[in-house]
Amino acid sequence: MKTLLIFLLAVATNVTYAASTPDFINTCLDCHGPKGVSGHSEVPIIAGASAYFIEASLFAYKDDIRPGVKSKFYYGDLKRQKTDMKAIVEKLSDQQITEAANYFAKQTFISAKQPFDNKLVKLGKKVHSIRCEKCHGDGGTSVDDDSGILAGQWTPYLKLSMKHFKEGTREMDKKMKKKVDKLKDSQWQALLAYYASQQ
Ligand code: HEC
Ligand code: HEC
Repeated sequence: MKTLLIFLLAVATNVTYAASTPDFINTCLDCHGPKGVSGHSEVPIIAGASAYFIEASLFAYKDDIRPGVKSKFYYGDLKRQKTDMKAIVEKLSDQQITEAANYFAKQTFISAKQPFDNKLVKLGKKVHSIRCEKCHGDGGTSVDDDSGILAGQWTPYLKLSMKHFKEGTREMDKKMKKKVDKLKDSQWQALLAYYASQQ
């Protein structure tokens, strides 16, 4: 019993320490929102994605296989100049990249509250299950697939990421490309409604 008590105390203390995040992670929160749950539709929610996906994304910016889009800061000192993910990642050590990925992976994903076209949801669900489910499991909520969480992600951000994939500025998985190339715009609109509907 005594050992259990000491153990519990140790856990409690740890929780208190974990609450003070290092400065380089606080900078992320100034755009991605409290614990990575972004309240702004241009900035993706990164809480709860897999550590592998987050880390791979950060290295993709560093290695120039993914474009960094200039963004303003949404919290904290708002007078800071706009910056982009590449510039941010370049200032981090590999160890800090891993640490940031682990921090955000431990947080809870909370779906964006946003409007969507209810009439398109059913078609979106069908298109998803035929074309996307294989790598974006459980209706796009899967963390274990290491391919990002689509369900509940901000629609404007998903649009931006598809634009980058299509124009080739963001490297796309070859098998995903095959599915995406076949998508009609109406099917893409339906997918967006389906993802946004999962709140
Ligand atoms: C100035 C605002 C800003 C700051 C600071 C910032 N980000 Fe971002 N981040 C963005 C925006 C905007 C995007 C989406 C556009 C893009 O890809 O450039 C993004 C994209 C990402 C993505 C890709 C998510 C996905 O679903 O593909 C990850 C991961 C990420 N950021 C992690 C971080 C981490 C970790 C930090 C801190 C070290 C950080 N960001 C700091 C604005 C910011
Ligand atoms: C063969 C596997 C595969 C298939 C099929 C697939 N994807 Fe992906 N997708 C991935 C992987 C892996 C990633 C993460 C890679 C990266 O970040 O560049 C990804 C990333 C994404 C992203 C970016 C998420 C983010 O947070 O940045 C979107 C959007 C996306 N996929 C949409 C789709 C849609 C829509 C379909 C169906 C039409 C689809 N994918 C089918 C493997 C797949």
